Amino acid sequence: MGDWYRDLANSGVGSTLVGQLGLPRPAVLRRYEPGAPLLTGPAVVGTAGAGRLRETLTRVLEDAGVTVLPGVDDDGGRLAAVLLDATGGTGPADLAAAYEFLAPAVRRLGPSGRVLVLADPPSDADSPAQAAARQALEGLVRSVAKELRNGGTANLLVVPADAGASVPGPVRFFLSGRSAYVDGQVVRLTAADVPAGEDAERPLAGKVAVVTGAARGIGASIARVVARDGAHVVAVDVPAAGDKLAEVANEIGGTAFQLDVTAPDAAQRLVAHLRERRHAGVGPGVDVVVHNAGITRDKLLVNMDAARWNSVMAVNLQAQLDLTQALLDADGVLRPGARVVCVSSQSGIAGNRGQTNYAASKAGVIGMVRAWAPAFAERGATINAVAPGFIVTEMTAKMPFGTREIGSRINSLQQGGLPVDVAETIAWLSRPSAAGVNGQVVRVCGQSFLGA
Ligand SMILES: NC(=O)c1ccc[n+]([C@@H]2O[C@H](COP(=O)([O-])OP(=O)(O)OC[C@H]3O[C@@H](n4cnc5c(N)ncnc54)[C@H](O)[C@@H]3O)[C@@H](O)[C@H]2O)c1
Repeated sequence: MGDWYRDLANSGVGSTLVGQLGLPRPAVLRRYEPGAPLLTGPAVVGTAGAGRLRETLTRVLEDAGVTVLPGVDDDGGRLAAVLLDATGGTGPADLAAAYEFLAPAVRRLGPSGRVLVLADPPSDADSPAQAAARQALEGLVRSVAKELRNGGTANLLVVPADAGASVPGPVRFFLSGRSAYVDGQVVRLTAADVPAGEDAERPLAGKVAVVTGAARGIGASIARVVARDGAHVVAVDVPAAGDKLAEVANEIGGTAFQLDVTAPDAAQRLVAHLRERRHAGVGPGVDVVVHNAGITRDKLLVNMDAARWNSVMAVNLQAQLDLTQALLDADGVLRPGARVVCVSSQSGIAGNRGQTNYAASKAGVIGMVRAWAPAFAERGATINAVAPGFIVTEMTAKMPFGTREIGSRINSLQQGGLPVDVAETIAWLSRPSAAGVNGQVVRVCGQSFLGA
């Protein structure tokens, strides 16, 4: 399931050929490996406006052992990251400072480099001019993301005045190789109690995580990454997938729990399991819930039978609603600081021919997450959605050649993502340090041109 074209474009002869023909040159992306440094070179931090977060950014970099250069012109080498604190601006005139800082810095960005911009929320602005300048940063960042080559990404964090403490965790994620396929995204932070002293390599140690649809594909990858980050995983899938489920659970030292999430007693059985079992010496309850189980039953709307419509809604949406409600209602099961991450899809944002049922269910997930976010915040918990774009799986390997090639190239990174890219984003949202990310939809799509 490799990317033959990317490998060709990065080989000696292939690189020349691709260059001569003016074809896209997808990069080999920097992905996280345990023990990898946050960045593989120096970073530079600039401001455009009062810059209230500059010190926070510098501290995050220095704590991770990254060299922070005092300015762009100080040496001729490549930059691994360019960070712009654009908070505290008053109007469009401040945008000139953003341009003046970014242009020379981005020119020096190395392979799989990171551009990260922090901005104030347009909704909190004092004047239309200030709101305009803040909103302008979104257009700027999304365009920079489209211009970057060589595996570079650009993303924007929107930070309200009281949410400074929420900044470090998301900054580390966006700079790291964990966010390899997250590009052109805008994430809005909120004020939250962020626990101090997270273990960078095992941030989920001592936690219990439920992952549905964990027997294969993206779900198996989520289970592996969440376990790698320290959690005990309760891997859930239908009885028919029992053997594969047991394999995944054994591999990661987790627990296999056979459950059809659409069964009438599914919520009751899951709650009972989490109450009764003491996983890995941890008390009863759950810290992380990943609603990943999902199905497609594609047909054009005019040919759609009720069975296809109903089954997709039941697995992809109703089960997420019912299980989450049951966990909220069951006293003491959802632990303080709980994280719920719901798998949506690019189809739910852009729509997709032949997928009215699937796209409706996945858009529904986004509505659910946004509506539940305030109630989760009240309990010191979060609920977010992750929307994968074109992810290379056994399913996409079976697509006709042309469809697969086009589907995987129409994004700024010119390649499909891997299940691990979705898994890393979910594992990040599950961390204690992601406390200030709530009610968000993070696309893992390489800045897909669909529904952008
Ligand atoms: N593959 C992609 O490109 C892509 C893109 C966008 C979104 N997604 C979403 O990511 C998630 C995982 O997708 P995948 O490609 O790994 O799919 P997959 O079909 O390979 O795996 C889905 C898993 O969910 C399980 N499942 C299905 N119904 C279930 C039920 N009722 N109860 C319990 N488990 C059930 C299946 O047995 C399977 O193991 C899905 O929600 C999918 O909609 C995938």
